[in-house]
Amino acid sequence: LDNGLALTPPMGWLTWERFRCITDCEAYPDECISENLIRRTADLMVSEGYLEAGYEYLGIDDCWLEKKRGPDNRLVPDKKRFPNGMKAIADYIHARNLKFGLYEDFGNYTCAGYPGVLGYEQLDVTTFAEWEVDYIKLDGCNVDRYRMDEGYPDVGKMLNATGRPILYSCSWPAYQEDHMLRSHQRDAGFLLKDSISDSVREGRWRGSGSSELLFTGQNTTAKAITSLLYSPNYKSIAKHCNMWRNWNDIEDSWSSLLGVMDWFGNNQERIATFAGPGHWNDPDMLLIGNYGLTVDQAKVQMAVWAILAAPLLISADLATMRPEFKEILLNHRVIAINQDRLGKQGLRVFQKKDAGERKGLEVWTRELSDGSYAVAFVSRRDDGAGYAAKFTFEEMQLPSDDYLVEDLFDEVPERKLNSDDEFPVRINPSGVKFYKFYKLKQNDNKSPPQADI
Ligand code: GLA
Repeated sequence: LDNGLALTPPMGWLTWERFRCITDCEAYPDECISENLIRRTADLMVSEGYLEAGYEYLGIDDCWLEKKRGPDNRLVPDKKRFPNGMKAIADYIHARNLKFGLYEDFGNYTCAGYPGVLGYEQLDVTTFAEWEVDYIKLDGCNVDRYRMDEGYPDVGKMLNATGRPILYSCSWPAYQEDHMLRSHQRDAGFLLKDSISDSVREGRWRGSGSSELLFTGQNTTAKAITSLLYSPNYKSIAKHCNMWRNWNDIEDSWSSLLGVMDWFGNNQERIATFAGPGHWNDPDMLLIGNYGLTVDQAKVQMAVWAILAAPLLISADLATMRPEFKEILLNHRVIAINQDRLGKQGLRVFQKKDAGERKGLEVWTRELSDGSYAVAFVSRRDDGAGYAAKFTFEEMQLPSDDYLVEDLFDEVPERKLNSDDEFPVRINPSGVKFYKFYKLKQNDNKSPPQADI
């Protein structure tokens, strides 16, 4: 979305992954979604150096509302947990030079069952602007997914018309990806009903069936179709949103993190080119600092999110953050990769799934604005010692050249790599090595074309 915002991937903090829908402030005073949590986090974002490192948005996810709108149909923040209302929260956040993020849902209800914006879009957008919200995450529960192709752009235009710069985070594709056309819906009449006919015309159904049949099947039954996956209209999504959740929620575990990485790697050809200044794919929040990841696994997430040019949204208790996790979150060299102004999403360029040498290793590479490259070597292995391996230039998808190689996590001397060498690494179990490769002599650094949006 060309609204001057999110020229690099947004950075901040968001309640959901860690604090969920905890609303019982008597039982859980330090964790419930409340003014107390937001003020405490705002203070810590400043005092602990997160703001200085770039984390500027402080977002309240679901469960901040009363269950019913007010008599004037306005959204009402929970009266016990946000007794001073949302404008007071905004003031507190803005006084600390932070920006205020808020969650809502495009449907009738939010995912947790609070009032959604459907039917009240204009009123709610006006309310957000009055509250001085800087970032809206618009979720997609409780609404027909085919309505989103028009509904999300409509709300975006309303946000724009407020005159207040409001970053627009959409969950639109997350509700359309992996949506499968099943055999009982094979009838071509269903396919061509108005709400999805554009997607049919544009051929945005893919998979094991034959998509040609969709075009010819106007009045017949498309009998050869077995199962087809819907492809969201990323061109439109990138035009109308600053960032968008593509897929499932991340949960606090290594297996969930790997699931998200696999999805982004497996679908990179369809989605990566839509990322760029002002518009980003969003693999979801950082788990770092919580219960589920080891220090090495936390580094994997930080490195891969940097390669993916992903929004960096911490969702952890900053009051109890352990120093080894904080160090990862505040690693300025890794943040600089994430924030590189070229804004080109990197790719998984090597993956060894089958048995044998280098099993369980992956390489993720991102091209940077100064002609250098960031390369993450991820190990999914669990055979308890660092695993040593070598990679060719082709495997790392680096132009063959002479490089100076900087380790982005560890303070070790730079290495030199000559164009005829292979690159040796040793990676901890479920860990990562993350490097920046600087060309020793600067060549022309042409970048492949980005999607035209
Ligand atoms: C969905 C979203 C999550 C979170 C919850 C809130 O699951 O994907 O990120 O916002 O709803 O209920």
